[in-house]
Amino acid sequence: MDSNASFPSVSTAKPRLIQRIVQYPHPALRHRAKPLRRVDVELRQMVAEMLELMYERDGVGLAANQVDLPYRLFVMNPTGDRAQKEQELVLINPEILSRKGGMEEKQEGCLSLPGIYAPVRRSTKIVLAAYNLQGQEVRYELEGLAARAAQHEVDHLDGVLFIDRLSPGALAEIREKLLELEQEFQTNRRLGLIPDDRQIAARLAALETLRT
Ligand code: NI
Repeated sequence: MDSNASFPSVSTAKPRLIQRIVQYPHPALRHRAKPLRRVDVELRQMVAEMLELMYERDGVGLAANQVDLPYRLFVMNPTGDRAQKEQELVLINPEILSRKGGMEEKQEGCLSLPGIYAPVRRSTKIVLAAYNLQGQEVRYELEGLAARAAQHEVDHLDGVLFIDRLSPGALAEIREKLLELEQEFQTNRRLGLIPDDRQIAARLAALETLRT
């Protein structure tokens, strides 16, 4: 027998904690994220929602700032394929311990800068330390796309975007697209879809006092 049979049906669907991926030039993208002190049920839900958004948008990585959260946390899966669960990483308070293997320039994009791609120089191999969702310390040696994605995401947590790392020539080539995103942001703000800077900062500060 269904133990709930005699009760009126109550929706058990949890309200979403994360609404959307914010786009350049949203101030959350320039906010330096703070280390997390603990992993709790709510944080696990945020991570699940971040992974969902990342896969929905065909991304290979997503940092907390990109969903308007001030925490040092990112998710990634270099395959971008949710079926390849074993490639999925949740990295809390990540730290790059070493960069090696030389530098390589390759095309990058970002879910917060839709439609913009440009070449970025990154280390080809890194050693990354972090905590996982079980609160255990983990260490990974990453290379190729995984190393590139992790460096891109750690940059996010420091308020750095890949467009900050472009050569002047590459930046000039995407200048017009950046201006379009800036105009779109201002339009959305005028429409009341995006709060003002002061409200955004106050919200991030309130979230920080909760768990950092
Ligand atoms: Ni990005």
